Amino acid sequence: MTTYFTRAHYQQSADFIRHRTQHTPKFGLILGSGLGGLADSIENANRIPSTDIPHWPHSTVEGHAGQLVIGKLRGQTVLAQQGRVHFYEGLPMQHITLPVRVMFELGVRYLIVTNAAGGINPTFNPGDVMLIEDHINLVGMAGFNPLIGPNDSDLGPRFPDMSNAYDRDLRGVAMRAAADSGITLRQGVYCQLAGPSFETPADIRFLKAIGADAVGMSTVPETTVARHCGMKVLGFSGISNVHRLDGSPTTHEEVLETGKAIGPKLAAIITGVLSKLAEQGIGVDI
Ligand code: HPA
Repeated sequence: MTTYFTRAHYQQSADFIRHRTQHTPKFGLILGSGLGGLADSIENANRIPSTDIPHWPHSTVEGHAGQLVIGKLRGQTVLAQQGRVHFYEGLPMQHITLPVRVMFELGVRYLIVTNAAGGINPTFNPGDVMLIEDHINLVGMAGFNPLIGPNDSDLGPRFPDMSNAYDRDLRGVAMRAAADSGITLRQGVYCQLAGPSFETPADIRFLKAIGADAVGMSTVPETTVARHCGMKVLGFSGISNVHRLDGSPTTHEEVLETGKAIGPKLAAIITGVLSKLAEQGIGVDI
């Protein structure tokens, strides 16, 4: 298996997708655990099973359908990745993040990432949606950053800036879209752990101490690669469970079950964002 992909690999995947769709997407959506329902609202959709796409990583996790849905959502052209691959499935970081590189090759310049996460902030409740203000790259700090390896300066800089990882302006639009839909949007810092085991009570105390509001097993690598190639990123965590330091267990079933309730809220916010950006002339085809 290729460990380090090059631009030629991304272009091969992108060419394959281009031949299966009439759309040129500007927005990429990565839909996390139990949150894939939004893709069903995409109109004029072309659906591509991810197993057909060269080099594309394949998920083995329940709740991750593994297909691309490309079409129109609120007048915007979007490519939704239903189901993602996680680091704990055993693939290298560069493979996990290949979809972001391919989206860039296809013309995507705005990436909306979603995930299911555990609430660390004691004011959060299961079913809440959190706007990701920033992230803590714990897995990257441990030596697993998707940008490790040779840098192709045609794709992005060796040392990319991460000071505005989750775009300030897009976050403002998301807050307004949520308010218009009557949805309370929490805000906070997302921290990625490798997983797949959930956190111990001591892990939770540590995460609280370092300033995490939510914890999950994804998103940070995708955001890192998206920023490397200059995309603007907007991120949301669906709070599927909360950690109260009372020793209560966390289960994947609970994560998927609460995800079902979060899906419609997230769909309302994201479609609201797409409409508002279209009103500003952002993204829409001219
Ligand atoms: N921890 C880590 N990942 C998660 C959680 C959690 O509590 N909930 C959903 N994804």
